[in-house]
Amino acid sequence: MSTAEEPAPYGGGTPAPPALKRIRTQHLREMKQRGERFSMLTAYEQYAAATFDEAGIEVLLVGDSASNNVYGNDTSLPVTVEEMLPLTRAVARSVRRALVVGDLPFGSYQASPEQAYLTAARFMKEGGAHCVKLEGGVEMVPQIEKLTRGGIPVMAHIGFTPQSEHALGGYRVQGRGETAHRVLADAVAVEAAGAFAVVMEMVPGDIAGEITRTLTIPTIGIGAGPECDGQVLVWQDAFGLRQGRLPRFVKQYADLHGVMLDAARAYADDVRAGTFPGPEHTF
Ligand code: KIV
Repeated sequence: MSTAEEPAPYGGGTPAPPALKRIRTQHLREMKQRGERFSMLTAYEQYAAATFDEAGIEVLLVGDSASNNVYGNDTSLPVTVEEMLPLTRAVARSVRRALVVGDLPFGSYQASPEQAYLTAARFMKEGGAHCVKLEGGVEMVPQIEKLTRGGIPVMAHIGFTPQSEHALGGYRVQGRGETAHRVLADAVAVEAAGAFAVVMEMVPGDIAGEITRTLTIPTIGIGAGPECDGQVLVWQDAFGLRQGRLPRFVKQYADLHGVMLDAARAYADDVRAGTFPGPEHTF
């Protein structure tokens, strides 16, 4: 049985430190106006979220990339609202400062503005998200208008949109050459519809720069070059938990796979050798 001096056995129950000033959607726009860059990472659970929040990451995206990075699917298509909501709630509960974005999964908003509103409202009410993200440009204008009029801030996502991987013919840069005008039209449309920010994925750097200068809302790049107002990466890619070939736009900041592999092997060795638990771990 635990005594009062011992930490909670499974990490829970730590009293929350005092609240910090929250990042709100308007703070990102103010940062753009001041020429300050901000960062966004994905997060899908408590400890990663709390760590990134402590590091000062302004925006945490509970991405539908949870499909690949939590649920073991090959693409983002299979993940459901029911699977995303508990992850969103865990992240929202674990941060003190970061803006938490709930990512609407494939099939949960495309059918109509009403469907989008009902799904997004669940992310806000049940997931505790501060705003939602959806994929699409011009064709998503009715959805973005409906959500923003109904009090739900929307982050748009244009360029390569992973939920449309099959329609787009695979993972490819969008907006090269003659198709640049389409990405620009998407960006202008989502801003006019009321989006507070726009993610641009796999867009040539010069086009992303032009869009960033054209829009008053912040742009957030992933494979869209250095001129965007913010950058986003999937954390398992950036910190080396995921193995295998990484997209060119990923910079790897750590080798967490290596760290965890060594730790797991050391633990297994100790157990095999009978050196764990030692007297200091024994009651
Ligand atoms: O789900 C996700 O991780 C994303 C990022 C790639 C922006 O949408």
